[in-house]
Amino acid sequence: MVRVNFVTSIDGAVTIKGYSAGLGGPSDKRVFDLLRVWCDGLMVGAGTLRHEGYGALRLPDDHRDLRKRNGLADNPTLVVVSGRLDLDPHHRMLANAPVRPIVLTHGGSSERQRKLLSTVTEVIVCGESRIDFRVAMDTLARRGLRHVLSEGGPHVLGALTAADVVDEMCLTVSPKLAGAGGGRIIAGELSPPREMMLVHVLAAGDELLLRYARRR
Ligand SMILES: NC(=O)c1ccc[n+]([C@@H]2O[C@H](COP(=O)([O-])OP(=O)(O)OC[C@H]3O[C@@H](n4cnc5c(N)ncnc54)[C@H](OP(=O)(O)O)[C@@H]3O)[C@@H](O)[C@H]2O)c1
Repeated sequence: MVRVNFVTSIDGAVTIKGYSAGLGGPSDKRVFDLLRVWCDGLMVGAGTLRHEGYGALRLPDDHRDLRKRNGLADNPTLVVVSGRLDLDPHHRMLANAPVRPIVLTHGGSSERQRKLLSTVTEVIVCGESRIDFRVAMDTLARRGLRHVLSEGGPHVLGALTAADVVDEMCLTVSPKLAGAGGGRIIAGELSPPREMMLVHVLAAGDELLLRYARRR
């Protein structure tokens, strides 16, 4: 099962001044944190990892307890998507991770970088010249990562949508008009429109929290 979480402005921007932090309010942050409680694997694109300056993926004590009570590992496994493998093995998210992260890549990526990253991560090759996300999701599921939460960014969502593996989409609409300039929550590969159905709507102050599921 693949769940995607994003925040957007009312006018559809994915960032303000280049970062998503300018968009999310307290309720979005709450949902962002809670969605992490339920996943086995947390997926990010190399772009988001390089850009956002996130720390190691270690959940707070109460969320780890909640996970344990529900039969989940203490912390989710970080899954980084990268074709170029232009990643620093000393990056906090990789080097300080409580669970050995996984790097998903394809056969055309640099063998030297694969070797370098293998010191702190498990590098998994899925696909010859591009990542095959259907194979990738099956491979992750076989390793126990059956519920994957994607925190983006737009190119990862583009690839997941093109592979038609998105089962749920959680979207926060932030009460802001970002103005021209920001990109959309999706980029990269073209794909036909996918039908989703609205599962729930929460209004929290001026924020709107939406959850859509794949229409079966
Ligand atoms: N509003 C939100 O909720 C939200 C969420 C996340 C991110 N963001 C924002 O989005 C921006 C980053 O955008 P982005 O599109 O660059 O982020 P991204 O999708 O996280 O990362 C793009 C990178 O991921 C790798 N990648 C993605 N799809 C791939 C595929 N099919 N095959 C191989 N590699 C693939 C590539 O890495 P390599 O270059 O290493 O090959 C690519 O350059 C940042 O400004 C961030 O703040 C916003």
